[in-house]
Amino acid sequence: MENLPKGFFYTLLLFLWVCAVTASVTYDHKAIIVNGQRRILISGSIHYPRSTPEMWPDLIQKAKDGGLDVIQTYVFWNGHEPSPGKYYFEDRYDLVKFIKVVQQAGLYLHLRIGPFVCAEWNFGGFPVWLKYVPGIAFRTDNEPFKAAMRNFTEKIVNMMKAEKLFQTQGGPIIMSQIENEFGPVEWEIGAPGKAYAQWAAQMAVGLDTGVPWIMCKQEDAPDPVINTCNGYYCENFTPNKEYKPKMWTENWSGWYTEFGGAVPRRPAEDMAFSVARFVQNGGSFVNYYMFHGGTNFDRTSGGPFIATSYDYDGLLDEYGLLNEPKWGHLRDLHKAIKLCEPALVSVDPTVTWPGQNLEVHVFKTSGTCAAFLGNYDTKSSAKVSFGNGKYDLPPWSISILPDCKTEVFNTARVGAQSSLQKMTAVNTAFDWQSYNEEPASSSEDDPLTAYALWEQVNITRDSTDYLWYMTDVNIDTNEGFIKRGQSPVLTVMSAGHALHVFINGQLSGTVYGGLEFPKLTFSDRVKLRIGNNKLSLLSIAVGLPNVGIHFETWNAGVLGPVTLNGLNEGTRDLSKQKWSYKIGLRGEALNLNTVSGSSSVEWVEGSLLAKKQPLTWYKTTFSTPAGNDPLALDMISMGKGQVWINGKSIGRHWPGYIARGGCGECSYAGTYTEKKCQTNCREPSQRWYHIPRSWLNPSGNYLVVFEEWGGDPSGISLVKRTTASVCSDIYEGQPTLKNRQMLASGKINRPKAHLWCPPGLKISQIKFASYGLPLGTCGNYREGSCHAHRSYDAPEKNCIGKQSCSVTVAAEVFGGDPCPGTAKKLSLEALCS
Ligand code: GAL
Repeated sequence: MENLPKGFFYTLLLFLWVCAVTASVTYDHKAIIVNGQRRILISGSIHYPRSTPEMWPDLIQKAKDGGLDVIQTYVFWNGHEPSPGKYYFEDRYDLVKFIKVVQQAGLYLHLRIGPFVCAEWNFGGFPVWLKYVPGIAFRTDNEPFKAAMRNFTEKIVNMMKAEKLFQTQGGPIIMSQIENEFGPVEWEIGAPGKAYAQWAAQMAVGLDTGVPWIMCKQEDAPDPVINTCNGYYCENFTPNKEYKPKMWTENWSGWYTEFGGAVPRRPAEDMAFSVARFVQNGGSFVNYYMFHGGTNFDRTSGGPFIATSYDYDGLLDEYGLLNEPKWGHLRDLHKAIKLCEPALVSVDPTVTWPGQNLEVHVFKTSGTCAAFLGNYDTKSSAKVSFGNGKYDLPPWSISILPDCKTEVFNTARVGAQSSLQKMTAVNTAFDWQSYNEEPASSSEDDPLTAYALWEQVNITRDSTDYLWYMTDVNIDTNEGFIKRGQSPVLTVMSAGHALHVFINGQLSGTVYGGLEFPKLTFSDRVKLRIGNNKLSLLSIAVGLPNVGIHFETWNAGVLGPVTLNGLNEGTRDLSKQKWSYKIGLRGEALNLNTVSGSSSVEWVEGSLLAKKQPLTWYKTTFSTPAGNDPLALDMISMGKGQVWINGKSIGRHWPGYIARGGCGECSYAGTYTEKKCQTNCREPSQRWYHIPRSWLNPSGNYLVVFEEWGGDPSGISLVKRTTASVCSDIYEGQPTLKNRQMLASGKINRPKAHLWCPPGLKISQIKFASYGLPLGTCGNYREGSCHAHRSYDAPEKNCIGKQSCSVTVAAEVFGGDPCPGTAKKLSLEALCS
C-alpha cells in the first residue's frame, strides 16, 4: 500500500463507495431507495406467458414511453415445472429472456415469485401434480407444501442470481414478492395461517437476494418484508411500520372477463385520480395491474370460466396496441408526477381543507414546492384559491402543480388523444374440411371402470378439459313409460363446469355453469329404447380455480347423483352402477391439431362439411396477410371449443356464451367497481381470438378448430386490428403537458389539440371538427348548439398528409368566437390510413 500514490488510494475508496451505492436497494418511510436515491416508481404488470417473446420488446418500449420505471410480473410455476423436477423455461416461459428485455430497455423489474399467483391463471399457478403429493394442503403450515414452495422459490432465486439479475448484481430486479394476498386467507384459517405467513417471509428473506421482499395484503408481514396494498384505491393504506414505504402493488386497470360476463372498462380519469390521490397521500410506488393483460393461450386460464382474452382494459390492449386515451392520459400524469418527484421524496405534505370535499396537499422544502389540489365531489366542479391563483377543478379530480403555481395536469381533463380500433376481415372465406368425432360409449373392454362416479381432475390430471362418463341403461319391455309415450327424466348432478349428455350417440342436451356457479344439473326427458341404451356424459372443465380457501380440494366432474325418474320402479339411481371412463377426445389422442396427426382420420368437405353438429373438428390452411397489424379470428358463428394454429393453442373459444349484466352510461366520477362501466352485454363475452404473428409462416398455416356445440365455420374470418380513427377533445384554457414551455412561461391559456397516427400511417381525412360545444365521443361526435363554421379549416391545413399534427384551441384560429362568454372546446376526429 505504501508504494501506491495517495490519489490512487482515494480513487479506489471512491470507486468502492460508488459500487456500494450503485448496487443497493433499500427503503425508508418515504420510498424505495435505489442507488442511494429515494424514488417515486411507476410500475406496470406484463405477464410474460400472456404474450410472445416477439411481442416483449415492443410492449416494454411502450411501457417506457408511457413513463413507467418498473415492469412487474408473476412467476408461473405450473408453466415452469409441468412435472416434478422437469423444468421448462423456453419460448413464452423464458423468464430470463423477458427480464433481460426489461433490462435492455433500462427499466427495473418487480418479480412476484408467489409461487401462488392467483392471476386468473389455471390453479393459481400451482402445478396440478402438487395436489397429489401425499399429505399436502396448500398455503398453510403444511410440511410437504412448504418443502415444495421453498424448492421452487429457491430455484427461481438461484436462477436470477446465476444470471446476475438482481439490482445488487447489476441487474434490473429491485424487489421480489413472496406469497400473494395471503392476509385474508390467514384471517379465515387462523393459527396455521399465521405460522405459514411468518415461515414464508423468513424463508424468502433467508434466500438473500439483496433486494427487498414485499407481501401484498399481508398486514402482519414481519420485518424487513414490506406489506403493500392492492385494489382500485389505496390512498388510505398505511404499511405496518412507520419506516416502511407506502406501496400499491395492484392498481386494477379494469377487471378480467369471464365467459358469460360483460367486459369491464375503467375510465382513464378515475385511474389517474386514484394514482394522484395515492401519491399526494405519500404513496411512492404504484403498479398498474395490468399494463398489458394479453391472452390466456392454451388452457392457462383459471377461474373456472375465465375468458381467453385477458385484456383487462390495460394501458395496452390485448394485442399490444395503445389503449387510448388511457395510455396517453396516464403518460401525462406520470410526467406531472415526475416533475414533483424532488419535493415528493423530500418531505411529508401539509394538508388543508379549503371547503367541503376539497383537499390541498403541499410538499414544500427550501428549494422545491409541489401541490395537489383535490375536489372529491362526484357532481360539482369547484374553484379553489391557492397561493395567488384560482384553480378550476372538475368533479372527482386532482390538479397537479409541480411548482405550486402552474397547473400542468388535471386527472379529469384528458389531453391525450383517444383512438378507435376496428377489426377488418382480411381473408376470402376459408376452405374448411370437417371430421365428426363419434361420442364415446361404454364397451366390454374399457380399461377404466368403476362402480362409482369419479372426480374429474383426479382422473385427467388436467391433461385435457374432457372426461367421458359412460354407462348402460337397460330398459325392460314392460316399462310403463313406453305405453304412456312419456319419456323418463334423466337427472345428472355435476360439480362442473360444462356437460353434454349423449344417449345412443345423439346429443340430448348441454348445460354449463359460470364463475360464481360452477356446479350444474342436467334434468330433462330423454329418449330411451327397449333394451340397452348407451348413456355418455362428456364432462368439461373450463380452467381450474385460482383463488379461494383450499381451492385445491374443489371438485369438478359428474359426482352424482345420476338418476332416472319415471320408470316402473320409480327412480333408478345410476350413480353406483358400472361406469367406464375415457380421458380426452379422440381427436386429442390423434393430435388432429397437427399436420402429421390430421392424416389419421377421414375429412370431408363441400356439401358433406359438418355444420351445427357437436364434436366436430375443422381444418383449413391460410396465408399470412401482409403488414404488421395484429391478427385475430372472428369466431362469431361458433359455440365452444378450442383453436390451434400450426399446432399451438390460441386458447378456448366460447362465443356461444352471451354476456349477462348491465351496460349503461358510465361516468368517470365516483367510486369505481368492476360492474360500473361494462361493455358487450347481450353479445358474446369474447368474439375475437388473438393469433400472434410470430406463430405464422408466410403461407400454409394450419388452422384447426374443435367445436363442441356445433357451429357454422363459414362464419369464421381472419381479421386484422387497426386504428380506425384518432380523436382529440380539448377545452379552452386546458393545460396540456405537451407544451413544456407553458410551464415555464405560465402561458396556459392557449392549449393545443394533438393528433397522431400509428407508425407508418398518415392522417388522410378530418372526419369531424367542431370548435364550440360539440357533443358525443370519439366515433360519434356531432355538432352542438355552438359551432364555428370554419372549424375544419385549421385541422385540414395542419393535419392532412401528416403522421402527427396540432391545432391551437383559440377563437381566432376558427374565424372568431361562435358563442362569446361560453367555455368552448375543440373536438376532432381524423382517419389514419
Ligand atoms: C388480485 C390478485 C391478482 C388477480 C386480481 C384479480 O387479488 O392478487 O393475482 O387475481 O386479484 O384480477
